[in-house]
Amino acid sequence: MSAEHITDIESAAQGDTRLAARGVTVGYGGRTVIENLDVTIPPGVITTIIGPNGCGKSTLLRTLTRLLKPAEGAVVLDGEDIAGLRTRDVAKKLGLLPQAPVAPEGLTVADLVAKGRHPHQSWLRQWSSDDAGVVERALAMTGVSDLADRPVDSLSGGQRQRVWISMTLAQGTDLLLLDEPTTYLDLAHAIDVLDLVDDLHESGRTVVMVLHDLNLATRYSDNLIVMRAGSILAQGHPRDVITAELLDEAFGLRATVIDDPVGDRPLIVPIGRTHVRPGQVPVRTSQVRLG
Ligand SMILES: Nc1ncnc2c1ncn2[C@@H]1O[C@H](COP(=O)(O)OP(=O)(O)OP(=O)(O)O)[C@@H](O)[C@H]1O
Ligand SMILES: [Mg+2]
Repeated sequence: MSAEHITDIESAAQGDTRLAARGVTVGYGGRTVIENLDVTIPPGVITTIIGPNGCGKSTLLRTLTRLLKPAEGAVVLDGEDIAGLRTRDVAKKLGLLPQAPVAPEGLTVADLVAKGRHPHQSWLRQWSSDDAGVVERALAMTGVSDLADRPVDSLSGGQRQRVWISMTLAQGTDLLLLDEPTTYLDLAHAIDVLDLVDDLHESGRTVVMVLHDLNLATRYSDNLIVMRAGSILAQGHPRDVITAELLDEAFGLRATVIDDPVGDRPLIVPIGRTHVRPGQVPVRTSQVRLG
């Protein structure tokens, strides 16, 4: 690691930054996906990463949680280079919901969620009633208590997704990284899960999510990270970041941005090629984008 990166780690340690990437270059088998990326995750807020398929969102999340080792640079967790921490200590601080988790065949919901407690156990400290209580609450929070005895692989996609979120919650960390937590969920369940994420944030947790639904991303986060081709195009509050120009630049998406009738956030209305008659598209020009 370069002297410059070591200085960055020291300065991150002095502030209240919980998690940051400093000069990170990372990829797979010699193919670089993200090059020299800097990002700081603000504590106590919901940060959502958006960007087109394949731009490196999951790669960034995996790097921030030490599942991927950067070729250059470092990830700093509570002031320490994450590469030097023990796996168990990382797991006590941050919980990751991967994009497409797979449970061992036949494993029940209760057993999977109980695995979230593993980082807290040791030869000396074995399974306790406290652990059982945490698992019970995690099952209830995601509305899957009734499924406790079912094998995970017998559930629907949406039920399974909520079970995995439950396991991540059972880990009891105050940093949560959720890669597409609403995949497979119908809109009502997606809103339920995001309301739960908001409750977790209200109780002081720091959340980093990846979402594809841009309107849910603007509704539920105070900090957006917009990625394209392994780089960060823009970062900040949705009101400052989301503009028609940015959506075009990041996604090649033609859209108009209007005020959300039920909230104080921008609402993105994709235009597409059909169903639009000249003069019918409301245009909002007052948005300012921060770089
Ligand atoms: N395990 C892997 N081995 C090799 N290449 C990979 C691997 N995982 C991802 N990639 C490649 O890295 C790039 C970034 O992938 P990544 O999964 O981070 O994208 P993403 O932004 O999360 O996309 P999506 O929205 O589809 O989930 C892509 O080109 C992808 O093909
Ligand atoms: Mg992904």
